[in-house]
Amino acid sequence: MDKILGTFNGLEFTVGDTLLEFSYLVAALLFVYGLKLLSHPESARRGNLWAAGGMGLAMLTTLLLHKNAEGAHIPISNVFIILAAIGVGSVIGWIAAYKVKMTAMPQMVSFYNATGGLASALVSLLEYPNAVAGDVGSILVTILGLIIGAIAFSGSMLAYGKLDGKVGDVMKPFMTYLNLALLIATLALGAIIIFSPNEPAEMTGLLYLLLALAIIYGVMFVLPIGGADMPVVISLLNSLTGIAASMAGFVYNNQAMILGGILVGAAGMILTILMCKAMNRSLLNVIIGAFGGGGASVGHEQGTIKEITLSDASVLLSYSQKVVVIPGYGLAVAQAQHIAHELESLLEGKGVDVRYAIHPVAGRMPGHMNVLLAEADVSYEKLVEMDDINPDMTNVDVVIVIGANDVVNPAAYDDPGSPIYGMPIIDAHLSKNIIIMKRGMGKGYAGIENFLFFNPKTRMLFGDAKSTLQKLVSEIKSL
Ligand code: TAP
Repeated sequence: MDKILGTFNGLEFTVGDTLLEFSYLVAALLFVYGLKLLSHPESARRGNLWAAGGMGLAMLTTLLLHKNAEGAHIPISNVFIILAAIGVGSVIGWIAAYKVKMTAMPQMVSFYNATGGLASALVSLLEYPNAVAGDVGSILVTILGLIIGAIAFSGSMLAYGKLDGKVGDVMKPFMTYLNLALLIATLALGAIIIFSPNEPAEMTGLLYLLLALAIIYGVMFVLPIGGADMPVVISLLNSLTGIAASMAGFVYNNQAMILGGILVGAAGMILTILMCKAMNRSLLNVIIGAFGGGGASVGHEQGTIKEITLSDASVLLSYSQKVVVIPGYGLAVAQAQHIAHELESLLEGKGVDVRYAIHPVAGRMPGHMNVLLAEADVSYEKLVEMDDINPDMTNVDVVIVIGANDVVNPAAYDDPGSPIYGMPIIDAHLSKNIIIMKRGMGKGYAGIENFLFFNPKTRMLFGDAKSTLQKLVSEIKSL
């Protein structure tokens, strides 16, 4: 392994070094392949495994082949400590992932994201004293890793607390200015450290001050953002963690870390932009503008609410040709995906064509509905994207809206005063009959009234989605 193959820039390259670099290239390719597979529900599981395999390979070859500046491998005692830490972390991660409820996934993602940010910040904290004074390039990446990692850490921890209902929203008018001042102070201190002619080892006091400032900024940045906007913020913080990890990769000159970090950073940013687009909001509006809690949209007569009985609903559905199920956040809360699938199979057995209309931001996280329905073994062909199903909506006999609200709210089309005006929606209002299942007249994420409920074609089937669907299924079976 230590046979010298050649020299580059005065450094000797051995078989081990070449194997290590090659394994990083293979790992990076596996990350990209994994990401590609993640783009479809059917291949997503495999994508995860391929990318995890890439990460496992990079970790293994690093442990076996990495050498420090003096050319020494990682001492075997350290390898055991690292393996023990990986073991403990894996067990905790496995149990947490196994136990977590689907509705609590954003919290878990946020918590794990915080640990990623913290790890990158710690790398910077430990490696900064080893930097060479005046080496602006390497000190720059170290300091950026510290700042970005610390912001991602404290911001994600607060986002976790908000999503879990442990922390409320705090928005005071002065906070925007305070946050701006904090950000400027953090960046200014970072610049002082980067351009200081002093030995890094003499600057550790300032480094800890910088860490404290960045942690405080992370908290202050997330504090005023509405709890309901957290999924977008988590995606943004996830992107920051990726950037911090790639900075740590530069510190260690580790290609796998650099590429992995860049991929996470880019994927997180793309997702953030897509989520904002699907909600028709700018990122700035999410960060500094409040969303939700608003009153009813203007210019509408409220009208009357009509209910439908279980027996009428079962007859209507059984004698339809085309039925479209529109799932939303309430389906996830009620865990009604399995019984929804049973209803679909039952109706299909009666010759009814049943499909699911999937809105890109239905639920509380990207792909929420796809994951839920896949868990219930709903065939992927039955899941139709909003843009593909909308043109056919006028031919649909019945839409069943299960725990969805904002994603079918026509205010998006006709109420310029509504916070969701301009957001693309599923055109449930164009179908011939609309059945809406929800517990009462509760509002959705945007906190606004939905005039689809007052549409003359709409009939409400009140109750928890799971128990209502169970009753509906038994009613249809007894027809
Ligand atoms: P929402 O608009 O949040 O509406 C969910 C509805 O489900 C509520 O009106 C609630 O009414 C009902 N519900 C709650 N628990 C229920 C239960 N056990 N059984 C039956 N119904 C129940 O959901 P949506 O239509 O899926 O829209 C998602 C919203 O989240 C959008 O505004 C979107 O912009 C936002 N958002 C999504 C994401 C992603 S990536 N998915 C990220 C950020 C924000 P009742 O209380 O009357 O039952």
